[in-house]
Amino acid sequence: MPSPASPPVSSPLPQAPGPVGVFDSGYGGLTVLRDVRALLPQYDYLYLGDNARAPYGTRSFELVYQFTLQAVLRLFRLGCHLVILACNTASAKALRSIQQTDLPSVDPSRRVLGVVRPTAEIVGTLTRSRHVGLFATPGTVRSSTYDIEISRLHPDIRLTSLPCPMWVPLVENGEHLGPGADYFVRQPVRELFRLDPLVDTLLLGCTHYPLLLPKLRQFVPREVTIVSQGTYVASSLAAYLRRHPDMEVRLTRGGTARFLTTERPSVFDVASAAFLDQPVTSEHVTLP
Ligand code: DGL
Repeated sequence: MPSPASPPVSSPLPQAPGPVGVFDSGYGGLTVLRDVRALLPQYDYLYLGDNARAPYGTRSFELVYQFTLQAVLRLFRLGCHLVILACNTASAKALRSIQQTDLPSVDPSRRVLGVVRPTAEIVGTLTRSRHVGLFATPGTVRSSTYDIEISRLHPDIRLTSLPCPMWVPLVENGEHLGPGADYFVRQPVRELFRLDPLVDTLLLGCTHYPLLLPKLRQFVPREVTIVSQGTYVASSLAAYLRRHPDMEVRLTRGGTARFLTTERPSVFDVASAAFLDQPVTSEHVTLP
């Protein structure tokens, strides 16, 4: 595999089979990678966290698109034919443009998949009251991507969305389980159930948020289902690969995971321990 420091020159992209690329603004995508590897351990994975520029959730549409495209191109150049945007903010703000505008000129045979669609698909089977709550970054909420996807797939569901701008910084800084996090978690939970007391299913529409589950369980009514995305993204990827054997043969099967970060690797290696149950030795990458 080429070194992550190789510059994005305009030479042809590698054609040999390669790992599945997994991208997130930071550590959150590791929650998706963990579940994807649990279901599909046979493939190789290349994770890229843009930790140095996280969080994305409060950034403009243009910046999230630009940063995400840079990461996707880097993963292509490092041999990935398939990239998962394991980040709702990037999926909401950049996926469509990358699929429709960039892929046709970069390489129409490569694929970029997001995490919003698999989550929107599954929610219809989970809610009985048809009242669903969504916690996500301000960028994801403002994009209305979940409203659009859910109303298209399940027009009878009423969705109430709340941005939680403090949750990603709490997680990225390892403060999410401390007593200081209580206020920032309790407040949006209260507000959501004030806005719609009939909510029986809560979507965590940010890949960082599963780390807050123990805290959320303290404040969310016991009978409410809290949905983390990882397992649904994993089963959706498995189904995609069954439907697309042409893509499946372009994935290497060594069972490995390699980690790239725009932060200092020593910082990433320590912080990623909260997200994965394996030690990580990451490599530094600069974007673009
Ligand atoms: N993990 C990302 C998501 O799923 C957001 C984190 C960020 O704000 O950078 O939305």
